[in-house]
Amino acid sequence: MKSEMEQDILKVLVTEEQLKARVGEMGQALYEKFQGRRPLFLSVLKGSFVFMADLVRACQLKSDVEFIVVSSYENATESSGRVHIVHDVQQDLTGRDVIIVEDILDSGRTLAFLKEYFMAKGAASITIVTLLDKPSRRTKAITADLAGFVVPDEFVVGYGLDYAQQYRNVPYIGVLKPEVYAGA
Ligand code: IMP
Ligand code: MG
Repeated sequence: MKSEMEQDILKVLVTEEQLKARVGEMGQALYEKFQGRRPLFLSVLKGSFVFMADLVRACQLKSDVEFIVVSSYENATESSGRVHIVHDVQQDLTGRDVIIVEDILDSGRTLAFLKEYFMAKGAASITIVTLLDKPSRRTKAITADLAGFVVPDEFVVGYGLDYAQQYRNVPYIGVLKPEVYAGA
């Protein structure tokens, strides 16, 4: 039987099996790119926490993990357009090869801001890794160095991505039924 949460899902866009296979490939690609170096995986929270956990284990390199908490949504499906740093990085980024780990590249505002911000903190290089890419919505000239899946212009949840802080623990990427938003 479907859980109460799963009953809110209209359709599955990316299955658990597809996620596992693709994240494995992405980890391998980063392994090859950074072999002999010690990159710093920098997870953009909250959305990327599930992807981050799988990606770092798929890339058996000596590396560091770091986190930044940003917020651009105000419990809606449209971004407010401003990026707030809720919790900043704690490690020195000077001279580091930073791998930004993001859940989804949508308008590009979050990553455009963070790329500048980490460069200003002295990073030697920035590699942008995103699980999902929604290129149709881009307003900033920014591209990912590595993207897992291209998704259509639909609001997606699961595998870390939320709607109003819910559905992050859905194990696949799905689209919600319209009536779920109706009460919002
Ligand atoms: P951007 O700044 O517009 O590129 O938005 C990036 C952030 O918005 C991501 O880190 C997500 O947290 C959130 N976001 C964008 N699209 C979606 C979506 O379809 N579902 C859930 N969160 C989204
Ligand atoms: Mg989010």
